[in-house]
Amino acid sequence: MKALILCAGKGTRLRPLTFTNAKQLIPVANKPVILYSIENIKNSGIKDIGIVVNSENREAFQEKLGDGSDYGIKITYILQQEPKGLAHAVRISKDYIKDEPFMLYLGDNLIFEDIKEYSEKFLKDDCSASILLTPVPNPSQFGIAVLDDHGNIMKVVEKPKDPPSNFAIIGVYFFRKEIFEAIENIKPSWRGEYEITDAIEYLVENGKKVRAHVIYGWWKDMGRPEDLSEANRRLLEKLSRRKILGNVDDIKNVYGVVEIGENSEIVNSQIRGPVIIGKNTVIKDSYIGPYTSIGNNVFIQSSEIENSIVMDNTTIINIDRRIDNSIIGSNAKLVKTDTRPRVLRFVIGDYSSFYHSE
Ligand code: TTP
Repeated sequence: MKALILCAGKGTRLRPLTFTNAKQLIPVANKPVILYSIENIKNSGIKDIGIVVNSENREAFQEKLGDGSDYGIKITYILQQEPKGLAHAVRISKDYIKDEPFMLYLGDNLIFEDIKEYSEKFLKDDCSASILLTPVPNPSQFGIAVLDDHGNIMKVVEKPKDPPSNFAIIGVYFFRKEIFEAIENIKPSWRGEYEITDAIEYLVENGKKVRAHVIYGWWKDMGRPEDLSEANRRLLEKLSRRKILGNVDDIKNVYGVVEIGENSEIVNSQIRGPVIIGKNTVIKDSYIGPYTSIGNNVFIQSSEIENSIVMDNTTIINIDRRIDNSIIGSNAKLVKTDTRPRVLRFVIGDYSSFYHSE
């Protein structure tokens, strides 16, 4: 079986981060989101993975993941010229999939549950499709499925006003070749996209067997900044062992589970885990944590940061209020200077956010 990971969307809700980085390559607990999916897919026994990219992010994926050999998989990149919907992304991947059964995985999804069991069940079943569901408190915001007593899907609807169930369709699906015929028979939705839910509904309406499995573990798609923050917190909570490779001048100032990468230096600072710090990073006269991920080649001086993600090559100096619940992209500079009268000086991109309180 092959797997297809979709990464060719616009990522509008995560701007400005997605102006320079694909959503699926944003690091959470210092690892790009897509690598968690790749690990999960590989664990389920699949090594042949197609990644659907667009012309803007293709190079970044190729640079990060190459041909997949570093991760023990084989990657084929498939170009979707325009983000015309999930079903469209599947259709343009037909030459890669051929007639084989395949797993479809939305590249911005983070799923803690092991999916091996569901891929094995699918291969033993004679169904046309199998999809993973999870109960949600706000079903009007999701694609929703209605099941019979035997785990068969009776109906799927996209973001219903009056939800017929609370089982949301999460970003993992299994399909056999019938899905391609279904996609040929659907029309774009009101938002102009070829929806995979419409293709699944087509299968159901045409008497094909579509199975469902309900999962109860944590799952989220990394659509908004707050999703990245929550995922970061949950992944850091799972850290179980201290791993300190860099230099710490006074280990008594490091509390809890903390990872510090090679060549990093912690000077006159308190680190309160769970915290992960990358390589070649310097932290001086500062307070970091809890629930904070700091990337590689970062310089932090005289600042306090908690519940946050700070990406590679960023500099933070003399910020005299605590930085909390923040996502700071790579190569950013946050510096407080001593000029009087007090002024704020910005170079801030479109869609940036700045919140200030006394
Ligand atoms: P979405 O989150 O629905 O869309 P998006 O990534 O464009 O983000 P936003 O809504 O903030 O603009 O997409 C889910 C996943 O599917 C994501 O990993 C991108 C991918 N995708 C494609 O590969 N092709 C497409 O045509 C679309 C719509 C999404």
